[in-house]
Amino acid sequence: MRVAEYIEKLKPYEGGKPIDELKRQLNIEGEIIKLASNENPFGPSEKAVEAIKKTAAGVNYYPDGDSYYLKHKLADRLGVNPDNIIFGNGSDELIELIYRTFATSYDDEIVYCYPTFVEYKIIGLSFGKKLVELPLKDFSYDIDAILEHITDRTRLVFLNTPNNPTGTKIDRSDIERVIDKCSNDTLVVIDEAYYEYAILEDDYSELLDLYKKGNVIILRTFSKAYGLAGLRIGYGVAHPEIINYLNRVRPPFNVNIVAQNAALAALDDIEHVKKTVLDAKKQKEYLYTEFDKIGIKYVKSYANFVLFDVGQDADEIYRKLLQKGIIVRSMSGYGLKSFLRVSVGLDYQNRRFIEALKDILNV
Ligand SMILES: Cc1ncc(COP(=O)(O)O)c(C=O)c1O
Repeated sequence: MRVAEYIEKLKPYEGGKPIDELKRQLNIEGEIIKLASNENPFGPSEKAVEAIKKTAAGVNYYPDGDSYYLKHKLADRLGVNPDNIIFGNGSDELIELIYRTFATSYDDEIVYCYPTFVEYKIIGLSFGKKLVELPLKDFSYDIDAILEHITDRTRLVFLNTPNNPTGTKIDRSDIERVIDKCSNDTLVVIDEAYYEYAILEDDYSELLDLYKKGNVIILRTFSKAYGLAGLRIGYGVAHPEIINYLNRVRPPFNVNIVAQNAALAALDDIEHVKKTVLDAKKQKEYLYTEFDKIGIKYVKSYANFVLFDVGQDADEIYRKLLQKGIIVRSMSGYGLKSFLRVSVGLDYQNRRFIEALKDILNV
């Protein structure tokens, strides 16, 4: 089969290894702990689970393609208008829709720093786009480098804050510098998938109102703090003109009815989100303390994961952790050869992870 050269060169997205796959491969007894995809270790809200059960009997009907009730409730919560919001089958899908809608010419350029959320790259490559990929500076987005590389061919700028996989934030003033440098024909995509964790920190500023600048979209998701990753639902907030264009390209029933109703119910369970993010903060402190004790360097994170440096081949440590039933992520594929990323789990999961790591490192 003939495919374009840029498709030939693509490598499929590699997510965190699913628990069942590891069970099959290694025949491991006992509980497998997955700390690899920044999911909510408490699971979804009980209210969401109830809504999912209730919705099941009605799945013979197509979903509301406009997500009317969810859109109105979320708009109320965020203090924006419903026409400022679009939902996607995960924020992943919104990234793809953004490319399809706003980066349609052969010579369009896309600017971001790397390592970052790898879908900006994979989707861009799948459309054959010119990717202007700049290195992070001290594990953070290098805003001066981004500003230097914005040209009249730049169509999209991705800013990931907190950045996956490093956990670092981008200051609001730096984001404003980027927005102000971009013309009205360049969309600045602020990906805040980990917003609910980050906003707990004193020095993390609200960014949502930046959508009013007109050339900005803010992406968030129900996959992380809301615990609905398996249902695939995320959202974007932007000027109605941006939303309107995206809606022309969006598949009509991209967000299923179970996801819509679960997200509606999850929005009602503020306590669940609060418990999730407060515990993640506490558990992160535990990981920092243990890393300090064993002399492991790490990057302070505004999200629910921590990037750490084992000072040796990360793939090998990753494989040894798998043997002990613990799934994390090796960052060697991102060029960080001695780094791994661990998602913050429940107390006993983090303890098991630390014990296993100490055992492997002989410390
Ligand atoms: C920075 C970032 N953006 C977007 C996503 C995609 O999230 P969703 O599950 O909403 O597609 C992720 C998932 O890991 C992420 O880390």
